[in-house]
This record gives sequence, structure tokens and C-alpha cells, in this order.
Amino acid sequence: MRKIFKYDAVDSTNDLLLKWAENESISSGSIIWANNQYKGRGQFGRVWESKPGDNLTFSMLIRHDSLQVMEQFMLSKAISVAILKSLLIISPNFHIKWPNDIYLNGKKVAGILIENSIKGRYIGYSVVGVGVNVNQRKFSDHIVNASSIYNESGVELELHNLLNQIADHIEFFVNYVYRQRYEKITDVYLKYLYKLNEISVFEKDGKIFNGIIRGVDEFGRVNIELEDDEIVTFSNGEIKMKS
Ligand code: BTN
Repeated sequence: MRKIFKYDAVDSTNDLLLKWAENESISSGSIIWANNQYKGRGQFGRVWESKPGDNLTFSMLIRHDSLQVMEQFMLSKAISVAILKSLLIISPNFHIKWPNDIYLNGKKVAGILIENSIKGRYIGYSVVGVGVNVNQRKFSDHIVNASSIYNESGVELELHNLLNQIADHIEFFVNYVYRQRYEKITDVYLKYLYKLNEISVFEKDGKIFNGIIRGVDEFGRVNIELEDDEIVTFSNGEIKMKS
């Protein structure tokens, strides 16, 4: 039985679960789900905003037996693929935007924040934080390119059911990582990678340029073909995709 701890409000489900994870009695698969987060966190210290009650904001604890640090990006891909697969029944227009945002019709509808506890060469446990914009109608103007599943598809989803769907898929695809079925994960990841092999606009250090995403390496760095045909590798946070 999956343990779901439901809260009306917390600072951040990731922060709370990171504290709980230190206690061995909190079992793998446990979830903290909150209606509202006062200090929801996104990647690179950004704030994750979400209208209370309309969306999913939760964190899931995954304890690993022998997952190596070098499999970190494979784990991240598995989580993105798991969320994508839970949503594809609603619309075929979902994509994974490098490295791990979930897009629908070219707008961000879900974000993932994975925080790993590393001991030597191994990841002891991961706190997988997921924010899905599900039924929210209006977004603040300062949030660029965000939308919700409802706004993009007209489908209103029941949150508890969606949470269980996503958690089932996460367990399923994390098992693929453990069994080293890497190609299964990577195949889906690349099949749904947003703008793969299409011309896109990027920004780096204030400079705008065109490029084509040609792939993503095992460390999660993106390979972009530039206009002079050179292929350059960028890490997450180094460049921004404009469109
Ligand atoms: C991102 O795209 O920047 C990642 C967003 C992750 C947000 C989720 S909401 C639940 C969990 N708790 C947090 O504080 N953050 C993650």
C-alpha cells in the first residue's frame, strides 16, 4: 500500500520529505502531497507558483539499493518519461522539454525537482518533487509560457487519481533504471523530446542564436547544431530555449 501524507499547506513538499527521509522508517514510495506550498521550489532556486487546490504538488521518496551517481540523468529521464506516459492518454501533444519539463502544446504544464542524497558513488535516496498544473485557469503575467492541462486540452482531471497514475508510472520506469533497460527509457525520451531535429531559438549570455537539438548525452547535456554545422554541447542552466 502506498503511503500518501496529505497536507493542506506546507512550505515545500520537497523540504519536508528531505527531512523525513533521514528517518529510515519512512518507506520508499511514500508521498507528501500538499494543496498549497508557501515556499514551493523550482529548479535553480526559482519559486514554484501553483494555485492552491487546482494543481498537483507532491514529492515522492525513492530509496535505492545500488543506484550509481553516474545513473543520475537516467533516473531523471525515467521520471520525465513516467510523467509523460501518465498524461499521454489525455492528449498526444505532450512533450518533454530538455532536460525534464513537461510541455503541452508548447507550454510548460509540469516541472520536476529531483534532490538526491549521495554517498560516495551511490545515490542513497531521491526526493522526486513534481508540480503539475492541472485545473488552474489563470496564471500571473510574470510566469512565462506556463499553462495547465485544462487550459490546453479542456480536460478537467481529478487530482488524487492523477497522483496515483503518476506514482505508478514512476515506480514502473525507475525499475527500468534498476534493470538497466536504458534504451527503453531513452527511446521514449527522444521520441517525445520537444523540438528534436527542429530549428529553435536559444539564448546564452544575452546572445540569441538559432540551433537544432540533435540529442542529449548521458550526463544530460544537450547537443545543438549551430548554423555553421558545428555541434556544441551545453549543460542545463547554460542556455535557454526561447521558442
Ligand atoms: C521546475 O520546473 O523548476 C521544478 C518545479 C518542481 C515543483 C515541485 S511542486 C512539489 C515539489 N515541492 C517543491 O518545493 N518543488 C517541487
